[in-house]
Amino acid sequence: MDSVNSMRIKTGILIFLSLFSCSLLKAQSKMTNHNSETKVLVLFNTESGGTYKMAREIAAGIEKLPGAKAILKQVPRIKPLENEAKQVFGNIPYANINELAEYDGIAFGSAVHFGNMSADMRYFLDQSVGLWTAHKLEGKPATVFMSAGSGAGREGAILSFWNTLAVHGMTIVSPGIMGTSEIDKSIPQGNTVFGASSLAGATGDRPSKGELHIAALQGYALAKAAKGYQLTKAEIAPAPLTPSSPKVSRIEARLKELNIVLPDAPAPVGNYKPFRISGKQVFINQIALKAGKVEHPGILGTEVTEEQAKLATRQTLLNVLAVLKQAAGGDLDQVKQAVQLTGFFYTPAGYTKHALLMNEASNLLVEILGESGMHTRATVGASSLPMNSSVEIQAIFELE
Ligand SMILES: Cc1cc2nc3c(=O)[nH]c(=O)nc-3n(C[C@H](O)[C@H](O)[C@H](O)COP(=O)(O)O)c2cc1C
Repeated sequence: MDSVNSMRIKTGILIFLSLFSCSLLKAQSKMTNHNSETKVLVLFNTESGGTYKMAREIAAGIEKLPGAKAILKQVPRIKPLENEAKQVFGNIPYANINELAEYDGIAFGSAVHFGNMSADMRYFLDQSVGLWTAHKLEGKPATVFMSAGSGAGREGAILSFWNTLAVHGMTIVSPGIMGTSEIDKSIPQGNTVFGASSLAGATGDRPSKGELHIAALQGYALAKAAKGYQLTKAEIAPAPLTPSSPKVSRIEARLKELNIVLPDAPAPVGNYKPFRISGKQVFINQIALKAGKVEHPGILGTEVTEEQAKLATRQTLLNVLAVLKQAAGGDLDQVKQAVQLTGFFYTPAGYTKHALLMNEASNLLVEILGESGMHTRATVGASSLPMNSSVEIQAIFELE
C-alpha cells in the first residue's frame, strides 16, 4: 500500500473517530436532557370553573407526552372570590409572576370577558415587565385557551391575548384544525384555530366532549414544543450582534494545531499572475521558494537528497496554499476542495520514485484540508526546472 493510501485510511479513521466521539457526546447530553422532566405550567383564571375544567384537560394532554409534567396554578385575584375554598379549584395554588421563567412552556387560560382576557389575568401579566426586559420568556412555547359564555368575541379574545405573548417573544402554539374532524358537529362547539374554548352558555354539558378533546390535543402540542425548547435552550446560544466575536476559521485553526505558519505568497517573477480563477476553479503554480531563495535547489541524486527534495516539496505546497488563501479572499474556509496536483521533479534520467516525493505534498494537503484536500495527481520528471528548483507543483482547487 503506498503512503497516500495509508494517509487516506488514517485520515478516514481519524474523521470516523472524531465524528463517533462527537455523536457519542451529543447522544450522552441528549440522553441527559431526554431524561429530565419537561415542566409545563397551566396558568388559569376562573370564576365559575369553566376555565378550570379546560385547564385540567390541557394538563392531561400535556402529560400524554412521556416525561412531560403539567403544573396547574391560578392567577392571583384582584378581589377575593367568595367561597373560593369550597370550589373545585379552591386548592389550586396561586402563581408568582417570576416563576413563569422556570417552565419549558406555559398554557394560559382565562374566561372571555368582553372579548378579552379577564381583568385578573391582565393585572397578573402587567406585572411581568421585569421578566420582559430580562428576556426571560423569549422563545418559550405558549398557548391560550378560554372559557366563553355565548362565544361572542372569543377568537378576538385569544388573538388579543397573543399580543402580550408576542411582546414577550414567546413561541405561540395554536391547535389549528387538530381533532376537528372528530367532534360532534350537530351541537355548537367552542373550538377555534387559535386555541380551544368552551361555550359555557350553550346547551348540554360544558365543556363538551369535543371541546375537551381539542383542549387535550392543544396541551399535547404545547408539550411537544416545550420538549423541543427544553432540549435546545441551553445548546443554541443566540448569535451576538456585537462585533466582539470574530469568525474563527476552521482551516486556520487546523494550521495552528499542526504548528504550520503559511509563508508569504511568493510574488510573480514575470508577466503572469500567482493565481487565476476560472469559474469556481483556481489555478496555481509554485516552486520551492522560501523568503526569495529556492529551498534545496538542484538535481536529485547529485545536488539534493530525496529527503531534501521532500522538504522542498513541502515548502512548495505551503507556497501553493499561501497563494490559494489570497485567491480565496484570505479565508481558506472558502476552499471547497482540492481537485488536482501535478508535481514536477528535477530528476536524472531513469528516476522512478516521483510518487515518494510527491506524497509529501499530498499528505500535507490532506492533513490540513481533511477529506476536501483529497485530489487526483500526476508526477513528472524534468531535465531542469525554473531557478534550479528541485520541484514545481501545479495545483487546481475549487472554491465555494
Ligand atoms: C364581565 C364579563 C364579561 C363577559 N364577556 C363575555 C364575552 O365577551 N363573550 C362571551 O362569550 N362570554 C362572556 N362572558 C361570559 C364568560 O366568558 C363565561 O361565563 C365563562 O364561562 C366564564 O369562565 P369561568 O367559568 O372560567 O369563570 C363574560 C362574563 C363576564 C363576567
